[in-house]
Amino acid sequence: MIKVKKQKIYLCYGWGKNGDITLMTQRVPRYTSYPTAPHFHDKINAGHYQSWLNELPSEMDLSLYFHVPFCRQLCWFCGCHTKIVNHYDPIARYMKLLQQEVELVSTQLQTKQVKHIHFGGGSPTIVSPQDFLDFMSKVKDQFSISPTAEIAIEMDPRTLQPEKIQAYKQAGVNRASIGVQDFDEAVQTAINRIQPFPMVRDIVAQLRRTSIEDLNIDLVYGLPFQTQSRLLHSIAQTLKLKPNRISLFGYAHVPWMKKHQNLIQEQALPCEQERLEMFEAATHLLSSRGYVAIGLDHFVRSDDALAKAEKEKTLQRNFQGYTTDTAQALLGLGVSAITTLPASYVQNTSNYIDYEKAIGSNQLPVARGIALNRDDIERRDIIMSLMCTMSAQINRAKYALEFNQLQPFFEQDDIEYYNGTLRIKPKGRPYMRLIAANFDSYLNKNQQQYSKAV
Ligand SMILES: C[S@@+](CC[C@H](N)C(=O)[O-])C[C@H]1O[C@@H](n2cnc3c(N)ncnc32)[C@H](O)[C@@H]1O
Ligand code: SF4
Repeated sequence: MIKVKKQKIYLCYGWGKNGDITLMTQRVPRYTSYPTAPHFHDKINAGHYQSWLNELPSEMDLSLYFHVPFCRQLCWFCGCHTKIVNHYDPIARYMKLLQQEVELVSTQLQTKQVKHIHFGGGSPTIVSPQDFLDFMSKVKDQFSISPTAEIAIEMDPRTLQPEKIQAYKQAGVNRASIGVQDFDEAVQTAINRIQPFPMVRDIVAQLRRTSIEDLNIDLVYGLPFQTQSRLLHSIAQTLKLKPNRISLFGYAHVPWMKKHQNLIQEQALPCEQERLEMFEAATHLLSSRGYVAIGLDHFVRSDDALAKAEKEKTLQRNFQGYTTDTAQALLGLGVSAITTLPASYVQNTSNYIDYEKAIGSNQLPVARGIALNRDDIERRDIIMSLMCTMSAQINRAKYALEFNQLQPFFEQDDIEYYNGTLRIKPKGRPYMRLIAANFDSYLNKNQQQYSKAV
């Protein structure tokens, strides 16, 4: 059961480091899936995935996610699945394997209709312009890409050159998400990522000149040496670039899972209370500049498609974060990529050698996954609805235990229940994950184990 401090509920953004199970340090997932990835298991294999792909109806829309697990330099705060490479050869080889995987997956499908494509990583911008164009032409050969499809790519500005931007335009890319994190030099030094403001400003200008105008900028709060005033200054600089969207992620410090995060000086990290204040101050600044808060960590201009989707209650959440993508099948390709299907999740191997071996022998490179039962599906709908629309229709009698656990949030007036709908009030937004976590039956099991260990 979630243990709540009586007077004040603090927000948790990561994993507790002291071993105490207060809300401040308790593990709470970001719910890009439900059940979350740690609950996937290796009983799901390529055979299952193949039959699930075969069953997708011929009229169903698809989304494609391509993972490029390479970067030029390691950011010490990084929580992504990536590998540092100093030569181009492994990248070229990988892009060829990815092309083969496109073919392998496509031959299993009756439907080829693609509405969304997303390149993530790692740093997809590490791929050469020619390899990117060759890859996209393979995708276009194997799938039917809607003329209005959103084609998005995550960009590390330090690996971008004008020729790459031209290639993106030629390939139909129409959305870019630019990794910034923070503009402050002391913070950049502490995370091993020097990226001055003029570099980002020039990239933004080039993208706009090339008519790639739907821009998102990633910022992170809770980084070493970050203070409220440094973060607000970074946000003010970001605002000068007028992006349509800003993601403001809470730094997840998990050195026991990501060993390189030990390079971050822990004593330089802001405490939970400071993080909460940073997020509140950032929300205040962004709202005063016309950005609408979306879900957990996104801020968008009021005319943005995400704002419209939130209003119309069609906003979705998947492994890439918040999206307007309503496709029921999001196929993840590449090392470690995760696929979402109507009643299952499937994850590719995270081991490069295993990936190469599987593709080389014409096998889908599946490592694990999970098939959802009815209870999973019902809870997934509740959790995703809370994470996207801050409300969910819930039968209170059926979830009496969960409502009991929510009592502190009712007492603090963060939530209300009316006419069968649980609603998170605007002041309860920072507690969204904690509120959603009450409906996570897997997490509850974990907490009991964790509790005993203390
Ligand atoms: C794949 S990266 C984006 C593209 C490119 N690799 C870059 O960093 O510019 C995705 C984003 O995840 C966020 N991120 C990475 N590690 C994180 C962590 N430990 N905690 C919170 N956010 C993190 C960063 O904002 C980063 O821009
Ligand atoms: S934050 Fe981005 S650029 Fe930095 S190591 Fe991680 S994936 Fe690579």
